[in-house]
Amino acid sequence: MVHKVQGVVARSKGAPVTLETILVPDPGPGEALVDILTSGVCHTDLHYQQGGISDDFPFLLGHEATGVVSAVGPDVTEVAPGDRVILNWRAVCGECRACRRGKPEYCFNTHNATQKMTLEDGTELSPALGIGAFIEKTLVAAGQCTKVDPEADAAAVGLLGCGVMAGLGAAINTGKVSRGDSVAVIGCGGVGTAAIAGAALAGATTIIAVDIDAKKLERARTLGATHVVDSSTADPVEAIQALTGGFGADVVIDAVGRPETYRQAFYARDLAGTVVLVGVPTPEMTLELPLLDVFGRGGSLKSSWYGDCLPSRDFPMLVSLYRQGRLDLDAFVSERIGIHQIEEAFAKMQQGAVLRSVVEL
Ligand SMILES: NC(=O)c1ccc[n+]([C@@H]2O[C@H](COP(=O)([O-])OP(=O)(O)OC[C@H]3O[C@@H](n4cnc5c(N)ncnc54)[C@H](O)[C@@H]3O)[C@@H](O)[C@H]2O)c1
Ligand SMILES: [Zn+2]
Ligand SMILES: [Zn+2]
Repeated sequence: MVHKVQGVVARSKGAPVTLETILVPDPGPGEALVDILTSGVCHTDLHYQQGGISDDFPFLLGHEATGVVSAVGPDVTEVAPGDRVILNWRAVCGECRACRRGKPEYCFNTHNATQKMTLEDGTELSPALGIGAFIEKTLVAAGQCTKVDPEADAAAVGLLGCGVMAGLGAAINTGKVSRGDSVAVIGCGGVGTAAIAGAALAGATTIIAVDIDAKKLERARTLGATHVVDSSTADPVEAIQALTGGFGADVVIDAVGRPETYRQAFYARDLAGTVVLVGVPTPEMTLELPLLDVFGRGGSLKSSWYGDCLPSRDFPMLVSLYRQGRLDLDAFVSERIGIHQIEEAFAKMQQGAVLRSVVEL
């Protein structure tokens, strides 16, 4: 059977998104059909709409979602109809060179649905991050469904599906922040603010939020920042050094992803410290650093893809911390909107007015 549902599509580069009738097939082998409850609006959705990720238009947008499994393919055992799930974009294969070496968080062959969702005229859609969740029902690989506690607020925990996990994981998994560390986070949008929350959760004692927007800094304080630096007026390297005994932070997380912020992160860390790049640069960006400084400052320069998360390990654990009141995911839900309001949500994101707008379906 083919399901006819409404979903949000970016038809061509830069064109406003449209609500379209979409045909979703029943799940085949290895696939699951999911009724979407909520889906956050992420910067990556905007990147897709602007043509910044690939030219495979039309895209079915949305990917930070909570849903309920409505049907599974014949061989699927890991989830069943009725299960409450968060969708992930890291359904690990178990067989690639990373998985075989016991590092599935780097899986190089992650799974998506094999069948295509289409427009009514048969045009195949490219689902954002292999998910496509601004839609009433979506088709994914069964491994993209991570079963979680159904009592948790769908809008809040669904954000673990992308940006909030990327930030929390940049601190906890990639940066390996631990008790007593000093941490600086450059860029306090959804991802950077989650990195701040992650650093707080891991026991960092000095957490410095850096942004060029004073509003972001105020919010960062409420999620665990112990100090804030407005880098539109102050030199962030000097400010971070001053707040860390003159040395620099143990871990500096760049949640913007520009050459200038990376350079700030590089010089604002202590000797033998760690830089984590989680913000995504654009293809034309390049970086020049004295090689002697790269050597002489030691430590490690890391990038964080999706917070180096393993959804099956990290999502239920983080949902549990949220349910216990130890991780404030509600603070990331700035507003709840309808499926018609994606363009408005993009505008608010660009004005810096929200951490996350979450679509309720
Ligand atoms: N690595 C991953 O797996 C992953 C996953 C999701 C998102 N991301 C990326 O993370 C980045 C941040 O995403 P977001 O949703 O938080 O975006 P956002 O637009 O909500 O936040 C960006 C923040 O950076 C600040 N900023 C901009 N320029 C700055 C500068 N020069 N110095 C200091 N602060 C500056 C802005 O004021 C804003 O607060 C994006 O590049 C996004 O694509 C990465
Ligand atoms: Zn793999
Ligand atoms: Zn995202």
